[in-house]
Amino acid sequence: MSHKIKILTIIGARPQIIKASAISRAIRNNYKDTIQEIIVHTGQHYDANMSAVFFGELEIPQPDYNLNVGSGKHGLQTAEMIKGIEEIIINEKPDCMVLYGDTNSTLAGAIAASKLHCKIVHIEAGLRSYNKAMPEEINRILCDHCATMLFSPTLTGYQNLVKEGFAIDQLPPFTPDYPKIYYCGDIMFDNTLYFSKIANEKSEILKKNKLIDNKYALATIHRDNNTDDSQRLTSIFKAILNISISKNIDFVIPLHPRTAKILKDNLLNNIYQQLMENKHIKIIEPVSFLDMIALEQNAVLVVTDSGGVQKEAYFLQKPCIILRPQTEWIELTEHGSSIITDADEARIIDAANLLLSKSFSNFPPIFGNGKAAEFICSEIAANIK
Ligand code: UD1
Ligand code: UDP
Repeated sequence: MSHKIKILTIIGARPQIIKASAISRAIRNNYKDTIQEIIVHTGQHYDANMSAVFFGELEIPQPDYNLNVGSGKHGLQTAEMIKGIEEIIINEKPDCMVLYGDTNSTLAGAIAASKLHCKIVHIEAGLRSYNKAMPEEINRILCDHCATMLFSPTLTGYQNLVKEGFAIDQLPPFTPDYPKIYYCGDIMFDNTLYFSKIANEKSEILKKNKLIDNKYALATIHRDNNTDDSQRLTSIFKAILNISISKNIDFVIPLHPRTAKILKDNLLNNIYQQLMENKHIKIIEPVSFLDMIALEQNAVLVVTDSGGVQKEAYFLQKPCIILRPQTEWIELTEHGSSIITDADEARIIDAANLLLSKSFSNFPPIFGNGKAAEFICSEIAANIK
């Protein structure tokens, strides 16, 4: 039997677990004789509804290793991950490491792999907010600059890499010094296409929360600059209350544990009480991906500071308010169906008024053809020795 390419996949935070399902599915369907996947879960996310829930429903193989690193200060958390991943690389001797996105788990994998000369495949490469106060911006830049194969989901991401000096015409063999960059579409578009039909059939989340199609908005909030700053967090929730009342719509808010832990203490001016007393504001536990897709598909509006959720709004043709000072997915705002408001109450309300008064029908396929994961596997199969 010929030698299979052994890839070491690092996951840790919720969005990475979801993303990894696209590559695992492509391997299972078409590359099982070529690629062997070893999955390492760093344990960055560990609550059942932030981690375990995704494995069964998204058909992701159980991790071969779990480092159980858990929460902590960035330095300590990342260091513990590096230590654990280093040992696994030494024992497993993978042909390459596959890293997703921009979390501390991504950075830890990049550092451990590059020190041991293990080639890095970075999926979701090239994205930039041009705001280095975001921990994710540092993580993604460092990972990109020690990777050997860089797969960008958007043309903007690809062009960002070119601006940073990556060659467009690199010939194999690819190495960290001669890396190859690709614009290949978004594996999360693959996932949304694949799971949206199943979500509509299986999910009971609307019924469970007494939500009516197109009569509710969906909100998620978890970025540290929003959760940890009382003024910003209060401003966001005041806007949500205002929109719910003035537009007569419910808000469903599957709340990240980071935000849930801090909400009561960080909301000013009686806003917490107002939220608790308002039956149109439904703050719920984090939901499974199928439930999330069902919520996104039937919402009239999405309000979020999540990177993934703002894109899924576009995939599912929903208007979106982005609660951040800038976005690395600038195609969304150029299209017009997404508006950046930062955490500014008045801007959030104005954006809701504008977006709910319009209808958007033309959503060009800028995130690929739903086969990005297949393409990535074919390039790994052809180029990693
Ligand atoms: C991390 C990523 C962020 C990503 C997000 C996805 C970094 C620097 N940030 O942010 O890019 O958008 O994941 O959700 O890697 N907690 C729990 N249970 C859990 C996980 C977290 O209670 O299962 C709480 C803990 O109090 C923890 C806090 O959430 O301290 C933050 O978790 P952490 O993983 O450090 O960062 P996120 O904000 O989740
Ligand atoms: N998501 C989910 N359940 C939730 C909230 C989000 O399954 O309760 C999914 C969402 O659909 C998207 C991903 O998690 O695919 C985004 O993760 P998150 O917002 O935590 O991180 P980010 O994308 O900002 O890094």
